[in-house]
Amino acid sequence: MDEKIFEIIADEERRQREGLELIPSENYVSPQVLKAMGSVLTNKYSEGYPNFEGLDGTDARALKETTIENHRYYGGQENTDRIERLAISRARRLFHADHANVQPHSGAQANNAVYNAWLKPGDTVLGMDLGHGGHLTHGSPVTQSAKIYNFVGYGTNLETGDLDYDEIERLAKEHKPKIILVGYSAFMKVPDFDRIAAIGAQIPGCLLMADMAHVAGLIAGGVHPNPLDHGFHVMTTTTHKTLRGPRGGLILSKGVVSNPLMKVGHSIENIPTLIDRSVFPGTQGGPLMHVIAAKAVCFYEALQPEFKQYAKQVVKNAKTLANELKECGFKLIGDGTENHLILIDTIKTCGVDGKTFEKLCDRCGLTLNANAIPNDPRKRFSPSGVRLGTPAITTRGMGENEMKMIATCMNAIADFCPARNNGEWQNMEIMGKVIVELREAVRYLGKKFPTPTDRK
Ligand SMILES: Cc1ncc(COP(=O)(O)O)c(C=O)c1O
Repeated sequence: MDEKIFEIIADEERRQREGLELIPSENYVSPQVLKAMGSVLTNKYSEGYPNFEGLDGTDARALKETTIENHRYYGGQENTDRIERLAISRARRLFHADHANVQPHSGAQANNAVYNAWLKPGDTVLGMDLGHGGHLTHGSPVTQSAKIYNFVGYGTNLETGDLDYDEIERLAKEHKPKIILVGYSAFMKVPDFDRIAAIGAQIPGCLLMADMAHVAGLIAGGVHPNPLDHGFHVMTTTTHKTLRGPRGGLILSKGVVSNPLMKVGHSIENIPTLIDRSVFPGTQGGPLMHVIAAKAVCFYEALQPEFKQYAKQVVKNAKTLANELKECGFKLIGDGTENHLILIDTIKTCGVDGKTFEKLCDRCGLTLNANAIPNDPRKRFSPSGVRLGTPAITTRGMGENEMKMIATCMNAIADFCPARNNGEWQNMEIMGKVIVELREAVRYLGKKFPTPTDRK
């Protein structure tokens, strides 16, 4: 028995139970998702795909045609085929897609697979600049994809925090990208997908790709537009953020679905098959069938009416928290939020960098992360802000009252800082006492709103 690891897991359970998770890309999965992930499916190799025939978004059809020939490289797939067909079918239904590839091991793998499916080395991708909220996989020079493809970045309007659509149009006409990519890790507005689709339509051979890793749960819950309903061809996402599933990736597409073992022409219509071939064998080996089963459970849960309520509450909570923080004098990028994300300029709020503020919050049991603000003049490891969000605390059942309490705690932390004390840090003794009180208040909230695995 490996006691060490299980002791550490128990410590992590305690940390998650007693603290409040405000990192916007994290969540708490249901006991069923956890169970599927910890199942014997991890023992199975399933390279290849099930047969896609007959999938119409219903569980009944997904389960029906399992005797038809599959496209796998190993035997013993009678159960894994049913699982993957259910996962694909449910994902298609949830996101109004013609096809779903449920095999990407992560969001980064999903993005790389789409690039590999559609681009030749040297081709251009127009995506959101990292310094304005885009993701590493959208062209950071440290990534493999940035060494292969040419990424051109667009920014946000510094006053409104919104996308600058005229700038996107100008850049698209100038660079003629093969992909226009909308996606982000720190952007608080709702993109105008129609406007971007209209820009893409003017560029021959341009694939419209949305990386909705952060807001997929809001899309599934009907409180955020679905890019596939607004002219986009492909949507990638993680399954573990607002969507509340296992860690993993997912690629949804519009187009014609065919046999993934057969080569198809390079057209937007064939993008489902180009992507399948790019995921396996293009960029990955065997799928993680235990994770695919957990994704299927997550999609099932996201199709239930309660999930709509959760998604609505995530946004409501984020708006309440943002407004309360503003009332306390916090400076928010974009002056608030339209989704689950909040980005605070800590330098302007209380004169400390994001890392310092993150560490102070950590001591009180509030977990959030230091983050760059648009055009941040500071270094990556001590940026000017912190990013937080409401998915995980909403899953625990918290509402507007608790958002007010969290804002009050964060304001008490900001009160320690020099900018609020004539340039001096708050007296150490007082600070220590307040931290103990805040830790207790956070623990109280944690007890009152148990995690899904503690609820049972
Ligand atoms: C927009 C976006 N895309 C992709 C990813 C990468 O996902 P993963 O960490 O699963 O590779 C993230 C993760 O933070 C993200 O925010």
